[in-house]
Amino acid sequence: MIDEARPGVVLGVSAGIAAYKACELLRLFTESGHDVRVVPTREALRFVGEPTWAALSGHPVTAEVWEDVHEVPHVRIGQEADLVVVAPATADVLAKAAHGIAGDLLTNTLLTARCPVVFAPAMHTEMWEHPATRANVATLRERGAVVLDPAVGRLTGADTGRGRLPDPREIFELCRLVLAGRPRDLTGRHVVVSAGGTREALDPVRFLGNRSSGLQGFALARTALARGAEVTLVAANVALGDPAGAKVVRVESARELRAAVIEAAAAADAVVMAAAVADFRPAERQDSKIKKTAGEPDPIRLVKNPDILAELGERRRSGQLPAGTVVVGFAAETDDILRNGRAKLERKGCDLLVVNQVGENLAFGTPDNAAVVLSAGGAPVEIPRGPKEDLAHVVWDLVAARLS
Ligand code: CTP
Repeated sequence: MIDEARPGVVLGVSAGIAAYKACELLRLFTESGHDVRVVPTREALRFVGEPTWAALSGHPVTAEVWEDVHEVPHVRIGQEADLVVVAPATADVLAKAAHGIAGDLLTNTLLTARCPVVFAPAMHTEMWEHPATRANVATLRERGAVVLDPAVGRLTGADTGRGRLPDPREIFELCRLVLAGRPRDLTGRHVVVSAGGTREALDPVRFLGNRSSGLQGFALARTALARGAEVTLVAANVALGDPAGAKVVRVESARELRAAVIEAAAAADAVVMAAAVADFRPAERQDSKIKKTAGEPDPIRLVKNPDILAELGERRRSGQLPAGTVVVGFAAETDDILRNGRAKLERKGCDLLVVNQVGENLAFGTPDNAAVVLSAGGAPVEIPRGPKEDLAHVVWDLVAARLS
């Protein structure tokens, strides 16, 4: 049973240069009421020393199984944990965990833990892409561990690529969701989520846009990751950090968003279109800034953008997408939301349509959302006003039911 007042977290730290970032992760846990035992590997202590971990966690710290042997720590620490998170996880620790090798306190803890386990790998791109690491990651995921894809960016030294430890705040967010105890029923599934609002350029400095903050789409991505999915997040113009473990594709216009979604959808089990896509764009984009002229400005002529959700439905019908791909749309309605929603579900040919009422202080930019989910052939599911995360979980419950 999780002690909800003070969940017990084991923070495993292996020997990567990103070990220093785990200090921030540790603080995020302790400052939000978690009881954290830090278990570094021997080599990790060359990057950040024992006094730092002990002072920040308030617990003794060792890499060895030979200390306090009367308390049998190599078994007890894992047994008592509500969550084990290894950050950074090196290729070496992933290999040991995948093969059950237990030569120190951390790897023993990984063998005895029966709680959720999250690995946040960080290493050079070559190591991450090596067939040995790929196989070890696949094994760990199959066994139900959440193994986050590393972020892309500057690595140790001059090189850049996939291999960076995700932002500690995002690892923390993901761990919080995993600790909430939802099933990891999207393990082995690839989902695509679009988020944010598209911008259609008028000239190099101006655009037609909308108020979407991307919060609902990002909540969908984070909750899917916590439920074990591989996530591609196509994000249009949002001021939010990359969720830990997601492949994030940043786009601006509806046409860019379409290209990214259609490409990712080919290998997806589910596509959730949470983005607010502009229906129209200016017929012409001026190459230089539109100047204030004497007299009235020219009217802006608009042309239609592609309807991506309708295209996904169409591609599935015509066999360009597998018949089993689950397609989910969102509908923002200001009035008569049920009738408009039903008509839209039919028109777009999707499986589920999450209809929410928008207007002043409703849905856009707020942490809360309320909705009703309509499905082809099913009864509507009411989602009361609550965190966008809760709404996201209901969507994944319905998606997971369709996938099984
Ligand atoms: N959508 C899309 N492509 C567009 C417009 C919308 O894929 N060009 C998707 C949105 O991501 C959302 C759903 O369609 O999942 C419904 O969006 P909404 O704006 O409510 O519907 P519209 O088709 O634009 O209908 P209307 O604005 O007339 O209500």
